[in-house]
Amino acid sequence: MRTGRLEIVEVDGIAKECRDVYTITYRSREKASPGQFVMVWAPGINEVPMSLSYTGGVKGFTFRALGRTTMALSALGKGERIGVRGIFGNAFKAAGRNLLFIGGGTGIASIISAAEQFSAGRRAVAVIGAKSGDEIFFADRIKRAGAELIVSTDDGSMGEKGFVTDAARHALEKDHFDTIIACGPERMLRKVAELAVEFGTPAQISAERFMKCAIGICDACSMNGALVCRDGPVFDAKFLLKCEDFGRYRLSPSGTRVPI
Ligand SMILES: Cc1cc2nc3c(=O)[nH]c(=O)nc-3n(C[C@H](O)[C@H](O)[C@H](O)COP(=O)(O)OP(=O)(O)OC[C@H]3O[C@@H](n4cnc5c(N)ncnc54)[C@H](O)[C@@H]3O)c2cc1C
Ligand code: FES
Repeated sequence: MRTGRLEIVEVDGIAKECRDVYTITYRSREKASPGQFVMVWAPGINEVPMSLSYTGGVKGFTFRALGRTTMALSALGKGERIGVRGIFGNAFKAAGRNLLFIGGGTGIASIISAAEQFSAGRRAVAVIGAKSGDEIFFADRIKRAGAELIVSTDDGSMGEKGFVTDAARHALEKDHFDTIIACGPERMLRKVAELAVEFGTPAQISAERFMKCAIGICDACSMNGALVCRDGPVFDAKFLLKCEDFGRYRLSPSGTRVPI
């Protein structure tokens, strides 16, 4: 079991990716793989889970500034200090030669390093979606990785008009894929899991739950008996479809089951 010792690191860089979305990079020798996450401590405020959007010697996480902790992180400058615990959780795995990446909203941050590491020498398609075009980020990284890029927006301001799951369905109807790798809002992910079963494509889906310890002790991230921090965050779509709560209920910080 990982002990989750806190490492104090300096912010190496902070970049604005699009409206409200920022990437913080820092240096760390910890080994990490696409899909894994860290607990990021904004000094004096709180500690929150973040997927790694860069997994090499320079690590990074990409986040939407929406609440107290992420707003504070977005205001940091180069050289300022944050705390990082981890690396936590399991990783995405690429099976077969034809890969479909699906990222919705800030979920794009969690699939990007998988798209970069797994696309070389394979046929890869990445479908990314957001409410509008000014919320789309990492399109250039996907193209540089050699994956075919499909963008969808709910309001049609960029790419295909509609939900990212509609664009993913079109991709699945057109081509055969050996593996789906997906992250995004949970209702979207439930639809991705259903698509995966419909098209008979194995899918690895990154789920989110409220997290406290991140090392499998506190039960805060429980989802129908699975601990997202220890058993996930990457789960097989068939398993998730068996979880009654997936896409329907989450646990609040006080442990109450609330609708998503
Ligand atoms: C494994 C994992 C990976 C994640 N990766 C990313 C990422 O790459 N980019 C990104 O923008 N977000 C990611 N998140 C969500 C991110 O942790 C929350 O957006 C962040 O905690 C918000 O904190 P806040 O104080 O700014 O906002 P708040 O206003 O406090 O919370 C906003 C919402 O964030 C969620 N949240 C708050 N605290 C936690 C917590 N301790 N654990 C889980 N969810 C919480 C809740 O849904 C809450 O409603 C991830 C969550 C998990 C579980
Ligand atoms: S966050 Fe404590 S068990 Fe997962």
